[in-house]
Amino acid sequence: MCGIVGVTGSDPALPFLLDGLSRLEYRGYDSSGVALVDSDRVWVRRRAGKLAELTGAVGDAPRATAGIGHTRWATHGGPTEHNAHPHTDCTGALALVHNGIIENHLELGDELVSAGHELRSETDSEVLAHLIEAGMAGGAGLADATRAALARVEGSFAVAVVHAANPEVIVAGRRSSPLVAGRADGSGFVASDIPALLAATREVYVLDDDQIVEVGPGTLRVTTLDGTEVSPVRRRVEGDVETAEKGGYPDFMLKEIHEQPRAVRETLRGRTKGDRLTLGELELSDQELRDVDKVFIVGCGTSFHAGMVARHAIEHWARLPTEIEVASEFRYRDPVLDAQSLVVGVSQSGESLDTMEACRFARSATNKAKVLVVCNVVDSSMAREADAVLYTRAGPERGVAATKTHVAQIVAMELLALRLAHVRGLLYPEEVARQVEALHSLPTLIDGVLARSEEICDAATSYVDTRDFFFLGRGVGYPVALEGALKLKEISYARAEAYPAGEMKHGPIALIEPGTVVVAVATRGRLHAKIMNNIDEVKARGATVVVVANEGDDAAANHADRVLWVPAVPRGAELFSPLVDVVALQLFAYAIAKARGCDVDQPRNLAKTVTVE
Ligand code: F6R
Repeated sequence: MCGIVGVTGSDPALPFLLDGLSRLEYRGYDSSGVALVDSDRVWVRRRAGKLAELTGAVGDAPRATAGIGHTRWATHGGPTEHNAHPHTDCTGALALVHNGIIENHLELGDELVSAGHELRSETDSEVLAHLIEAGMAGGAGLADATRAALARVEGSFAVAVVHAANPEVIVAGRRSSPLVAGRADGSGFVASDIPALLAATREVYVLDDDQIVEVGPGTLRVTTLDGTEVSPVRRRVEGDVETAEKGGYPDFMLKEIHEQPRAVRETLRGRTKGDRLTLGELELSDQELRDVDKVFIVGCGTSFHAGMVARHAIEHWARLPTEIEVASEFRYRDPVLDAQSLVVGVSQSGESLDTMEACRFARSATNKAKVLVVCNVVDSSMAREADAVLYTRAGPERGVAATKTHVAQIVAMELLALRLAHVRGLLYPEEVARQVEALHSLPTLIDGVLARSEEICDAATSYVDTRDFFFLGRGVGYPVALEGALKLKEISYARAEAYPAGEMKHGPIALIEPGTVVVAVATRGRLHAKIMNNIDEVKARGATVVVVANEGDDAAANHADRVLWVPAVPRGAELFSPLVDVVALQLFAYAIAKARGCDVDQPRNLAKTVTVE
């Protein structure tokens, strides 16, 4: 989730670019840069680190009226200065910024290098600068060359390009990644998000996929990739910057809940092709993966719950013994680790001290385990120290309660499980391909839950005054129950306990009394009938039962007082059901917390990243 900003017709352009970048920093930052169009060249300055590094390094910038800027959140290539944007072509006359993932960048890069281009970064983005250069060398103008280059891209992009030959023009385009354009008297703008433009204009247009815009001082022309002109859609812009950052949602948490289909899509992007799984940054060879004889998963809170789902997947597909432990306990027992052990550290931030220390302990000279970190922040401390990293690509998460990073973690680890099974020869290619296809259906299924937001929130508000909740699940439904209870506890301060449904009768059922609300994850799967029995057991003791059930499951509805309906995952893909079911419980917790007047983005006593033991 990088941030893009561009301006033309602003004298000077630089202050607008820096201000715009500061408003986009919330999208993530590990490096940043600007390019200014200066007579017959583009002047570029880039810096690793926070935006302040760049701001302190532009004292010698030329006075220019047009330019582009970028704040990066690395996906391909470390967060170094030479990987920072803008990227230039071989001539130094063109500069380009990009957000997204160019899946075919290796093929395009090989072709460009054979044609004599020099690629200077490890990013997927740089190829675009050279592709446009090649088009212009063949006689095309900037806009036509950009259109032709973007038409060759597989993957997602929002790009903005400037060229010394067209000093007043910015050409920008998008597919899947966000991009808006704006206009004011005598100036024009592009940005990945509205907040970057608010100080300058409220005349904002949203581009559709595969459209490009040519922005000049006070002018704006939108075309499709085949050159057909279209009328851009004007977006109504109200409120202040924070309102704009929330993208029309009342809080970051709700926005992030709605970003989950995208988080899943991005985490899958470029990593699957039929039965082939390419987990690029994994950095463990097939042989190393084959040598693994035991897996340990460690994490805290929501990340721990994602790990619990992954354990089911790794055991089921890869047939590897898998243990899971909360990170704060792991190194204080005597886990039996050796060089054949794979320890998976799961952490959104990559900075939680408990998980970091657990990984250090596993990699220590005594234990010698291989450590793979699943995290959302590129180049975080844990990622730097690990043997291998698998990044989730959920984009920065602002709400303290984790939502979109949780589903992205599950997706990343399900891919890992399939990859382990594949290298160990335990799944036929057709089965891998079938599971991969099911994974790709998840964004649509999650959209199906989100479409029911109103109905789920209405149901939840019946329980605003409830004091005690129990959450029950079985199999992969149990971690969903744990996560549902954690979300409710942390944002609404209700008491919520989760149990494996079959365990209730061994003690906790004594707590059930009239008025207790039991939320059961009862979507279809091999334990469906068993959880129905468990529901009857609590109902018989006076509990009010809310079930998460698959659309059309009348039997589940008959056992419950209330149903939170969710779409079913494809048959044979039940291990993915947590990705759909958990969304209903996030919304359930959200609605109760809001009705109780709680601050869902910054719940009391909590910090987004816990760096103490
Ligand atoms: C709950 C939540 C926390 C984190 C936990 C681990 O909503 O956000 O439980 O999951 O503190 O944080 P990371 O994943 O950054 O290691």
